[in-house]
Amino acid sequence: MASNKKVLVLPGDGIGPEVVGEVRRIVDWMDKRRHVTFDLSEGLVGGAAIDKHGIPLTDETMADAMHVDAVLFGSVGGPQWEKLDFGVQPERGLLRLRKEMQLYANLRPAMVFDALADASSLKKDLVAGLDIMILRELTGGIYFGEPRGIETMPSGERRGFNTQSYTESEIERIARVGFELARKRSNRVMSVEKANVMESGVLWREITQRIHDDEFPDVQLDHMYADNCAMQLVRQPKQFDVIVTDNLFGDILSDCAAMLTGSLGMLPSASLGAEDPTTGARKALYEPVHGSAPDIAGQGKANPIAEVLSFAMLLRYSFDMGEDADMVENAVANVLATGIRTGDIAGPNDKVVSTSQMGDALLLELDKQSA
Ligand code: IPM
Ligand code: MG
Repeated sequence: MASNKKVLVLPGDGIGPEVVGEVRRIVDWMDKRRHVTFDLSEGLVGGAAIDKHGIPLTDETMADAMHVDAVLFGSVGGPQWEKLDFGVQPERGLLRLRKEMQLYANLRPAMVFDALADASSLKKDLVAGLDIMILRELTGGIYFGEPRGIETMPSGERRGFNTQSYTESEIERIARVGFELARKRSNRVMSVEKANVMESGVLWREITQRIHDDEFPDVQLDHMYADNCAMQLVRQPKQFDVIVTDNLFGDILSDCAAMLTGSLGMLPSASLGAEDPTTGARKALYEPVHGSAPDIAGQGKANPIAEVLSFAMLLRYSFDMGEDADMVENAVANVLATGIRTGDIAGPNDKVVSTSQMGDALLLELDKQSA
């Protein structure tokens, strides 16, 4: 029987294929043990697509992404493609997906699993129990603003330039997502910009406040400058619930938040578009926050947990399969509790397992939970 759960898998480069491979094993497990079947297709993105087609994302793969229910993404990039023209570098493939699918809301939860509180670079009591959500605007701001480029001035000197720009409606829609998320959590939103320096930040603050006052007065809203937020994230991270911020600040602050959890290899993300007014469905792409880690690629050293947790977000947000998502997340927590560690989260005395051994352990845990 054909499944209506269409997922396009884009493993990409570096450790992407390895970590996505472990999710495929969980998908197979769900098919056998939970009788939940996904209709998986696979495509090329990033350097893998450049090597085959000369560009980081073909129109055909873009069209496929538009027609599935969800995209599961690995990672893109690597030193062998860094010398290419800017417009065809691996990262452009990912940025095109985000832009054309209009995935404006990027949810980056930073949670510290109890068993990993020691793996953080911060003191244990500062991070134990940490649970924050960074909501990053993903289709606007300086990543996409025009004009942009590198030009030669009359003097012969060159100038590189980008444009930071946000419209009222772009701010309104991301603010609404932030307030809605907060209502399901601890009901607090921290809106982050640089209104002391940037006009786009002034407007961001004004519109966020207005959406709050008009539509979400029950949620606590505060504002913070981005530099202060970076400092507060390492000083007292548990003061935050939902952080709502723009594309560039969100990129930076989420890497910072990721490290609080012990490793970049732990952080999943979901990038969501607007709800379709008739079907209620939203376009979605799920990807780990980490990159392609070319230094460890192909060696079976990568931590697959960020990709696995991204898959759990896919279950939850694209298919409303909260129970299955819980199972996957519990499997991760239980495996970590037994001391099984990939290199990135291992302490000096821990035995280090490979990517696929971590996958084995997760499947064993899933077996236990469904027994
Ligand atoms: C991320 C990454 C991307 C970004 C790169 C790979 C284009 O750093 O998703 O955080 O800058 O958005
Ligand atoms: Mg980043």
